[in-house]
Amino acid sequence: MAERWLVTGGTGQVGTALQHLSLPGVEVVAPPREQLDLAALPDLDPLLAGVTAIINCGAYTAVDMAESEPLMARAINTAAPARLAAAATRAGIPIVHVSTDYVFPADGEGPWREDDAIGPVSVYGQTKADGEDAVRASGARHAIVRTAWVFSADGANFIKTMLRLGAERDRMRVVADQRGCPTHAGDLAEALAAITARFTSDPAQPSGTWHCTNMGETTWHGLAEHAFASAAACGMKVPATVEPITTADYPTPARRPVDSRLDCSRLAADFGLQLRPWQQAVDEVVRQLADQTPGRT
Ligand SMILES: NC(=O)c1ccc[n+]([C@@H]2O[C@H](COP(=O)([O-])OP(=O)(O)OC[C@H]3O[C@@H](n4cnc5c(N)ncnc54)[C@H](OP(=O)(O)O)[C@@H]3O)[C@@H](O)[C@H]2O)c1
Repeated sequence: MAERWLVTGGTGQVGTALQHLSLPGVEVVAPPREQLDLAALPDLDPLLAGVTAIINCGAYTAVDMAESEPLMARAINTAAPARLAAAATRAGIPIVHVSTDYVFPADGEGPWREDDAIGPVSVYGQTKADGEDAVRASGARHAIVRTAWVFSADGANFIKTMLRLGAERDRMRVVADQRGCPTHAGDLAEALAAITARFTSDPAQPSGTWHCTNMGETTWHGLAEHAFASAAACGMKVPATVEPITTADYPTPARRPVDSRLDCSRLAADFGLQLRPWQQAVDEVVRQLADQTPGRT
């Protein structure tokens, strides 16, 4: 086996998708939390024996809860990437670090490019931004890959929440004034694997930051409406009405960017990677979820 990649967050959406990929010549190692607690990292050097790259998918992703648990969010989203990147530097291996659209400011206008000024407005966004900086400062060869609005048939995400609530309610209210780019965890995992393979095969590949989402954009309301249309076509029960509301109508502990759309053209230029339109990926996930739903019509 030529390659051995250490993946953190192996039980999350993206980490799970990475382990489902068929990668000839690559062994993916995803230690469970008991072995690799990102909030209290052990000595990493023994874990990195034979490892040729680190892919850091683990994170404190509860955006609202982070407002009341800033120390835990910082430990996992800032201190852990710093330690992982320092270990990668010592081992002479690259680190691919997943970050977020929520590093961008509340009120600016996307699509954001990688070099645009950031301005996080939440604890989650700030701790992820600081994690990026720690990786950049570590001296490790690195790819920082910002993604957004991640969904999959596994784990917890907006689409699964919508379909669950939509099966119980006739009327839903969904925020329609935040814009972004939905991203399928499996599509992102394929891109992360391609980026990692480039870093391990080409020592001249420069470090940098790249944006990676599915193609296209929408609002949370647009995403919910598409998921419900897809679910109805699969015979799932959906609400009769999906009412668009404003952010002010649905207050949350954490502020979120009004427009967090990411411009992914650098990823296409540097790696030849362009993810499919988000609607196709949503349809695929809804079909998977419908197949798992007992008693649909
Ligand atoms: N989800 C999104 O919409 C979104 C949007 C933009 C960017 N991102 C970024 O994309 C990456 C992957 O996100 P995701 O959606 O796959 O997240 P996720 O499904 O919430 O998974 C998070 C992973 O981190 C692990 N983790 C959390 N705390 C840990 C700890 N103390 N020790 C060890 N593992 C710990 C979780 O393990 P347990 O299962 O044990 O909790 C889980 O495996 C993250 O960097 C995230 O910031 C996500």
